[in-house]
Amino acid sequence: MTTTEEHQARLAEELPAAWRSVFHAVPRHVFLPGKIWVRGESDGQPIALDRRTAPDAWLEACYRDAPVAVQLDDGGPGGSGYVSSTASMPSVVATMLEAAELSEGQRVLEIGTGTGFNAALIARLVGAGNVTTVEIDADLAEGARAALAEAGCSSVATVVGDGENGYSPGGPYDRVIATAAVQRIPYPWVEQTRPGGRILTPFGTAFHSGALLHLHVADDGTASGRFGGDTAFMWVRGQRPSHGAVEDRVLAEHEYTETTTSLHPYEPVGDFDASFAIGLGVPGMRSTVVHDHDDPATGRFTVYLMDADSGSWASWRVTPERSGGYRVCQHGARALFDELSAAHTWWRRAGRPEHTRFGLTVTPDGQRIWIDEPGQVVSGG
Ligand SMILES: C[S@@+](CC[C@H](N)C(=O)[O-])C[C@H]1O[C@@H](n2cnc3c(N)ncnc32)[C@H](O)[C@@H]1O
Repeated sequence: MTTTEEHQARLAEELPAAWRSVFHAVPRHVFLPGKIWVRGESDGQPIALDRRTAPDAWLEACYRDAPVAVQLDDGGPGGSGYVSSTASMPSVVATMLEAAELSEGQRVLEIGTGTGFNAALIARLVGAGNVTTVEIDADLAEGARAALAEAGCSSVATVVGDGENGYSPGGPYDRVIATAAVQRIPYPWVEQTRPGGRILTPFGTAFHSGALLHLHVADDGTASGRFGGDTAFMWVRGQRPSHGAVEDRVLAEHEYTETTTSLHPYEPVGDFDASFAIGLGVPGMRSTVVHDHDDPATGRFTVYLMDADSGSWASWRVTPERSGGYRVCQHGARALFDELSAAHTWWRRAGRPEHTRFGLTVTPDGQRIWIDEPGQVVSGG
């Protein structure tokens, strides 16, 4: 049987050297509940692990460099098994904390308490009395409070509420660190950060799972900064893109137009920077890949593009034996494939910019996305 210390030491080796002592001081297993879910290796579906019946596997999972799900379906009964809270992947947590440039005495607001583990790490760096963390789910917040107390961080203020409102009584903050992704930056985060302070948040679109956004708050009530780093997090509750299975959205009675294209989905859908730019340019569009008979080995698949709001969809059929182009069908008010294709062409003509060339500015009136410098607005202007 491997001891907790051995597990801790093994995880430490996977983290940047500068972060090992901080993580060592905050034992992750103290923050994880008795029932957790890990990703199944074959299909990625959550597999339950119970501390009482499988203590060794549970402990091993606590110290793997992987996200651990701690709640499904917002804690409700039944449901599809949607992961609604995780203890984030330790190396990603370290990356975010490093980017936040924390130091003793800074006041920090964390959005998305989850297990409380990240709040405890932040507390090690800035002092527990300087940390406020907001969690929308009361049961999770209660679990985090207990774990924080056990870890000696009871002076972290754990608040139940909607983190999109921030938490003004604890402000102004030097740092706002979100551990749930947004598509729109809530303006209260800017208002509650002191000029010169920073906001660090995972940012995504319906099409792209996201990158880290690093905003600097100015003294004129705006915040601006660039994207950098592949950081996929779950959504804040109020900004989840609409779900929907292909069979519910693509119906036999739907009329559609049919064309062919020479564009293969590999780059627009699979390339991180291309799909990041397309997600910014084509709001609300999600993609789902359906392999024939669930067997990728056939090489045949269909990419579905769907917009829940308008009910529009497009299908993009890929077969290895293609001749004369890939078949595209489009239904609804939005011609989603055409929108994707135009955004992809824009990205290619712009010189295939990496996501780090894009940035975002937030004002009281909304947000705009730019390339290279804030004057070159590409969307939301
Ligand atoms: C990836 S988990 C956070 C991990 C956490 N920082 C930790 O160390 O365990 C995201 C959390 O954000 C919470 N959340 C989602 N929407 C929220 C909102 N609007 N306000 C506050 N918390 C929210 C979820 O319930 C979930 O617990």
